[in-house]
Amino acid sequence: MAIRTLTDLDDKKFDGKRVFVRVDFNVSVSNGAVGEDYRIRMTIPTIEHLTKRGAKVILGSHLGRPDGPDQDYTLAPVAKRLSEIVGRIKVRFAHDCVGPAVENEISQMEGGDILLLENLRFYKEEEANDPEFCKKLAGNADVYVNDAFSTSHRKHASTYGMARLTDTRLAGFNMRKEVEYLSMMRDNPVKPFKVVVGGVKIKDKIGALEHLLPKADKVIIGGAAAYTFLKAKGVKTGKSLIDNEHLSWVSKALASYGDKIMLPTDHVAAISPADTSITMVKGDIADGMAGFDIGNETIERYSAEVAGTNGHGLIFWNGPMGMFEVRAFSNGTTNIAKSMALAYWRGAKTLVGGGDTLEAMKKSGVAENEVSHVSTGGGATLRYLAGDEMPGVSILNGQ
Ligand code: 3PG
Repeated sequence: MAIRTLTDLDDKKFDGKRVFVRVDFNVSVSNGAVGEDYRIRMTIPTIEHLTKRGAKVILGSHLGRPDGPDQDYTLAPVAKRLSEIVGRIKVRFAHDCVGPAVENEISQMEGGDILLLENLRFYKEEEANDPEFCKKLAGNADVYVNDAFSTSHRKHASTYGMARLTDTRLAGFNMRKEVEYLSMMRDNPVKPFKVVVGGVKIKDKIGALEHLLPKADKVIIGGAAAYTFLKAKGVKTGKSLIDNEHLSWVSKALASYGDKIMLPTDHVAAISPADTSITMVKGDIADGMAGFDIGNETIERYSAEVAGTNGHGLIFWNGPMGMFEVRAFSNGTTNIAKSMALAYWRGAKTLVGGGDTLEAMKKSGVAENEVSHVSTGGGATLRYLAGDEMPGVSILNGQ
């Protein structure tokens, strides 16, 4: 079912109305300054659509996982960054997210104003989806908008409970774009469909892989995940990181889909990540050594597979190919990022998803506009692809 979005409501219905927008401003903040602000920038079309139509825009978000009110998790730096981005409109910041002070702030707002509320998770009632807290949030909103796909796997007060209490609930533009792209990939991917999976934890990706393996034409595995696959095939992996708990799942995946799963054949190995005397290893990795990146031969094979799309198809990349934070182990990730960009310029659809994949891509010198879509979601993207229930999305469909 298509979700109702901002353009489905008559423009006049926003004029002078208090529109609560659930955004995901869970971004990195260090020494009071916002780092990667992609999640903030992705909400601008929604915010500007509303301000231009005279809405009083009330933004709500969480930041981190605080245990009650904690100034280390204040959204004040985010309000400052958002102000810089929207330019001419001043972003007001409320030092709470419910209560008399917030009601007072809202009563002073005029159409076109923006107010960012303090971290919703300063109240444990947010994650508990507490009915009273939901009522308080909903009491400050005439219209509910969710533009936070990346947090829609959570059944919290601001993503679910308060929406149930609001008659008009809509998807923001970023939410709609995410759902459209990821649904296409999950249910009806453009062919040939290739999936590149890296990173460390297999556990988080099993659900998505179970859904994508039957549909994909090729599944390219890198990162620490690859060593678990290699171990399951009987290759010696030395002291490389292995997810022993999921070895049997990996063996089953190899038995059913081994013909389409690509694994590394050589590695950049070392005694430890701090070890500067790195070795290129082909095949087995000796005891005492660990693989930290894919080797040159593997890079060549993987890059040819990713970039060689002949101008069509779909490629989804989730997770770095190695320990890209360390320069000596960043080559695999850099080459995949560049091959993704090449595939895009040649006309393929390319999707990047998952927390550190955007960071890895940018560190490799590939910009956001060199891929078709970068998903704002980490856990949410993988859950959506796995076909899990997404309370923040289903509530927009009235469920
Ligand atoms: C994320 O960063 O993936 C989202 O903001 C959700 O955060 P959470 O895992 O703390 O709920």
